[in-house]
Amino acid sequence: MTDFDIVVIGTGPGGYVGAIRAAQLGLKVAVIEKRHAHGGTCLNVGCIPSKALLHASEMFEEAEHNFATLGIDVSAPKLNLGNMMAHKQKVIDGNTAGIDYLFKKNKITAFQGMGKILAVGKVAVTDDDGKVIELSAKNIIIATGSEVMPLPGVEIDEDKIVSSTGGLELKGVPKKLIVVGGGVIGLELGSVWSRLGAEVTVVEFLDNILPGMDGEVVKNFTRMLKKQGFKFKLGTKVVGTETSAKGVKVSVEAAKSGKAEVLDADIVLVAIGRRPFTAGLGLDAVGVKLDERGRVAIDGHFKTNVEGIYAIGDVVVGPMLAHKAEEEGVALAEILVGQAGHVNYDVIPGVVYTMPEIATVGKTEEQLKAEGVAYNVGKFPFSANGRAKAMLKTDGFVKFIADKATDKVLGCHIVGASAGEMIHEVVLLMEFGGSSEDLARSCHAHPTMSEAVKEAAMAVDKRQIHS
Ligand code: FAD
Ligand code: NAI
Repeated sequence: MTDFDIVVIGTGPGGYVGAIRAAQLGLKVAVIEKRHAHGGTCLNVGCIPSKALLHASEMFEEAEHNFATLGIDVSAPKLNLGNMMAHKQKVIDGNTAGIDYLFKKNKITAFQGMGKILAVGKVAVTDDDGKVIELSAKNIIIATGSEVMPLPGVEIDEDKIVSSTGGLELKGVPKKLIVVGGGVIGLELGSVWSRLGAEVTVVEFLDNILPGMDGEVVKNFTRMLKKQGFKFKLGTKVVGTETSAKGVKVSVEAAKSGKAEVLDADIVLVAIGRRPFTAGLGLDAVGVKLDERGRVAIDGHFKTNVEGIYAIGDVVVGPMLAHKAEEEGVALAEILVGQAGHVNYDVIPGVVYTMPEIATVGKTEEQLKAEGVAYNVGKFPFSANGRAKAMLKTDGFVKFIADKATDKVLGCHIVGASAGEMIHEVVLLMEFGGSSEDLARSCHAHPTMSEAVKEAAMAVDKRQIHS
């Protein structure tokens, strides 16, 4: 049983979903995973554990701050971090076990160990005991994902100076947490520990957090995080750290003026991005080319420069998102059986799972201005939405951007509770090339937060009702 149509290296969202789709299409599929659990970064140390902690910490904060207003008198909630972490682990285990089940159901053969490409059509798997098995495959898919980007001069020890992985399993709530990098991980994990009682300072190199997001969203959201207690040191870089038994001294410098300062922290979370992971894969030997950023170089159909070797997910160009990796896995499996697999990179949503959430799809105003595209904007605040008021979730707004001439939807940016759920009606609309009027004329159930999305679409034509 070592001859396969496809061997997939790495069982993160790209690899496992691609493997399942290929098996559904009748191919004989094997997967190789070096971890002892499937699901990759996402299920083990990424999306899923972070959302388990975000949900639990949000409930903690609700109990602390909102219950009394809702007429529920309870004594002040007490944190049981052990149980919170046990909840997180149970969620991880349930999800990874789900993949084992799906592999069995789809008759996919799973090998545990490190995969290395030996030649076209040949892959070796080395398990933890050093035992090697050789597999042959008509096609090989590299889905090896990404790893934490190190910060030069700062050693991540996963104790006092942690990456996202250590940041998901702190043993106690730090009094002072310094987050290096005001991106998605920094703000999500910063939110978790801030809600549980940490004083969080975000040190961001650029002048704004969440680079690349719509400017108006970033401005409003930064204000909301400040209200929640976040401190920001923007336009500031970390130049060194000194760890002692007491904590960490973090030396920072203003990026422009060079003004130096030393900040004290109990824990430092380094979250300055991720980089593609290709170590030990044997790419040099088989001649697979990387691009200028160390990603596996592919053509428009996920094919590397070597016949029969393909790559998807975080290890290739594009946003490092689980759902992007999944779409690529599906599209590639379909291409490999001669179908027209395709990913629409213009319509990939992005969600930041803070409170409120940020959800975004399509172009920002800044991008459209740079491209010289004329557009109309429609906005609607959740403070004018009945359901949001009932739930004490009035922070935020929906911003719709549509082409000035055709009304075709070009982008949508939502800041609000459940923004990550609401964005999908706009994703679907954009997939069909719809207009803001299409959404404005679709009946939305009352009372729902989604009515704000409809009202923002109506506001493109300045005919919103409730604001
Ligand atoms: P990965 O998930 O990284 O999987 C690659 C797998 O390949 C790994 O299991 C690895 O062990 C294995 N592997 C590597 N090399 C080999 C080898 N030679 N042999 C065998 N196995 C190998 N994205 C979202 O969309 N939403 C989120 O909410 C979100 N939250 C995140 C939170 C955190 C803290 C982090 C770190 C990331 C988060 N992401 C999120 C990003 C998301 O996890 C990645 O985009 C996604 O996991 C990429 O999938 P992938 O299949 O390309 O790679
Ligand atoms: P990121 O790219 O989102 O943010 C990194 C931030 O660090 C940027 O704001 C950048 O300007 C800043 N930075 C870079 N170097 C710095 C330095 N030396 N000092 C100070 N700041 C510096 O990366 P992050 O947050 O680490 O996340 C990695 C990836 O994981 C992201 O690409 C994201 O797509 C994915 N992810 C997605 C999530 C989601 O979809 N909800 C959640 C978490 C991660």
